[in-house]
Amino acid sequence: MTDSDRARPIQPQDQPARLDALERAVRERTDLVPRAGIVLGSGLGGFADEIEDPTAIPFEEVPGWPVATAPGHAGRLILGTVEGVPVVGIQGRFHLYEGNSPGLVVQPVLLFRRLGASVAILTNAAGGINPAYGPGTLMIIADHLTLTGVSPLLGQNADELGERFPDLTDVWAPAHRAALHRAGEQEGVNLEEGVYAGLLGPNYETPAEVRMLRTMGADAVGMSTVLEAIAARWIGLEVCGISLVTNPGAGYTGKPLTHQEVMDEGAAAGPRLARVLRRFIAGFEAA
Ligand code: HPA
Repeated sequence: MTDSDRARPIQPQDQPARLDALERAVRERTDLVPRAGIVLGSGLGGFADEIEDPTAIPFEEVPGWPVATAPGHAGRLILGTVEGVPVVGIQGRFHLYEGNSPGLVVQPVLLFRRLGASVAILTNAAGGINPAYGPGTLMIIADHLTLTGVSPLLGQNADELGERFPDLTDVWAPAHRAALHRAGEQEGVNLEEGVYAGLLGPNYETPAEVRMLRTMGADAVGMSTVLEAIAARWIGLEVCGISLVTNPGAGYTGKPLTHQEVMDEGAAAGPRLARVLRRFIAGFEAA
C-alpha cells in the first residue's frame, strides 16, 4: 500500500467489495463466527491474550490494511473464544492521525459485522476531562462528541450496508451499559460513565481546548472510537465501550503529556479492564 492509496478516500459505496475481499482473507483461515467484535485501544492489547484457540492474522496479510503504526498497537486480527463465546478482536486500530481515510478507520467494525458479530465493543485510552476522572478511571462510554470534522459515511451511500441518515440516539446501547456495570460490580472493579470526545490528534489538546471540551459536556477525550461507533450503528451493530483514563487533560497538572504515561497506565489498568470484559462477554449467549 502506498501513501496515496492510504489517503484516497474510501467511500461507503466502496465498502461492500472491500468487505468481500476481507471476508475471503479471514475465511481462508478460520470458519469461526463471532458473537462480538472487540477493538483494543492503546496499551490495552493484552486482552488479546485472553482469546482462546486463537487464529491471529497480521494486518499485512489482510487485503488493503496497512501495518498499524501507532506505538502500542500490534496490528493483528484475532478470532477465538472468551469464556466459550466466539469473538473477533483487533489488536491495534487505524487512526485518522496516521493519514488513514475515514473509510479505512471503520473497516474493522464493518468486518466484525460481515463475519457475523452483532455487538461491537470499543476500547480506548483517553485524557480525563471530568476532573473527578483521574488516571486509572475506567469509563463506560454513555455518548460521544464527534469532533473529527469527518464522517466515515461521506460520499455515496451503500444502501445494502445501511441507510443514508442513520439515527444516533442510543449509539451506546443502554442494555450493554447496564451489563457492563454489572460485570464491574461482580469483579469488584469501579466503573464510571461519561461522554467521550473524539478529536483528530495526533497532538494532545491545549488547556483551552480541554476547558472547551468540559463546557461541551465531555468527560474524556481521545483520538479514536467515534467514527467506529458511527459506522457500527450504520450497519446495525450494537455498540458499547470503555475508555481508560490514562492522564489528566492538558493543563490540569501543569506537566506536559507524554505517550509513555498513556502506555504505562494502559499496562497498569489493562488487567482490570480485561476482567470486566471477560465477565461481560461471558454473559452473552453463544451465537
Ligand atoms: N488527549 C487525547 N487523546 C488521549 C489523551 C489525551 O489527553 N490521553 C490518551 N489519549
